[in-house]
Amino acid sequence: MEVFHLRNKAFPDPVQIIRNILELRAMTNEWRRENLSIGFVPTMGNLHAGHLQLVEESRVRADRTVVSIFVNPMQFGETEDFDGYPKTTDEDCAALTEKEVDVVFMPEVEEIYPGGLQQTTRIEVTSLSDIVEGSFRPGHFQGVATVVAKLLNMVQPDVALFGEKDFQQLLVIRQMVQDLNMPVQIIGIPTVREPDGLAMSSRNGYLTDEERKLAPEIYRTLQNVQGQLNQGGRDFQILEQQAEKDLNKKGFKTDYLMIRRAEDLLYPTADDHKLVILVASWLGKARLIDNLPINLSD
Ligand code: PAF
Repeated sequence: MEVFHLRNKAFPDPVQIIRNILELRAMTNEWRRENLSIGFVPTMGNLHAGHLQLVEESRVRADRTVVSIFVNPMQFGETEDFDGYPKTTDEDCAALTEKEVDVVFMPEVEEIYPGGLQQTTRIEVTSLSDIVEGSFRPGHFQGVATVVAKLLNMVQPDVALFGEKDFQQLLVIRQMVQDLNMPVQIIGIPTVREPDGLAMSSRNGYLTDEERKLAPEIYRTLQNVQGQLNQGGRDFQILEQQAEKDLNKKGFKTDYLMIRRAEDLLYPTADDHKLVILVASWLGKARLIDNLPINLSD
């Protein structure tokens, strides 16, 4: 049995690390035989307070918690940051030990894609994959849906938890689980923010000190649009264009700022009440994404 060894002896039970599917199945089968429920938090590592919030929720909702750390090559485009994606395994395992997670599943790429990336079966959530974020990152949500389906099949959890920060990802996963009749409850957890409003993200580490000071403007811009919608603004296109212009004037390079229906990310009409404002914007080397769901009947 592989465990993560903490230098600090105050934590008696270092988290168990499992790297292959057979061993993982043996563990989860044993739990199921004991009638224990299983919570699952899939991650790509470089854990921050947002991930740890998911872990805490899992520990409340299930008897056992599995966290996966796997940087999934299938969801990165050719020009994206797969090779440079931050890897902080020791710190991650220390944090997960402290949170009393039962198992960290940390497979190699070959364990997940034994036949290679090109050959493997892929999952496409047709209605959501190519819009909003998907129109800027072709293939991204196919990569996410495929790896999440595989991980769910490996762990077979009762509940799986995802952050609302990746709003479209959460919708994609919910739709996939519904369409493929997967027996798991998907739980979305509200975005965890820094005190100045910046959404927690592994990619915040790419920001220089100067950029870090500017970064919360992205959330302020969302709040500003929210205020205008609350005051009755319904010319969505004008609101989007103005907000994008404001953000770019401050030094961002915005891929999109869109107001959409929260349930399916389609264009809203003036009668829709459940909306979400979604943004993706570059600040130096960091591509920051954020969103603000709003209920206009509140
Ligand atoms: O949100 C993430 O970290 C990833 O997209 C996920 C869900 C772990 C799939 O690789």
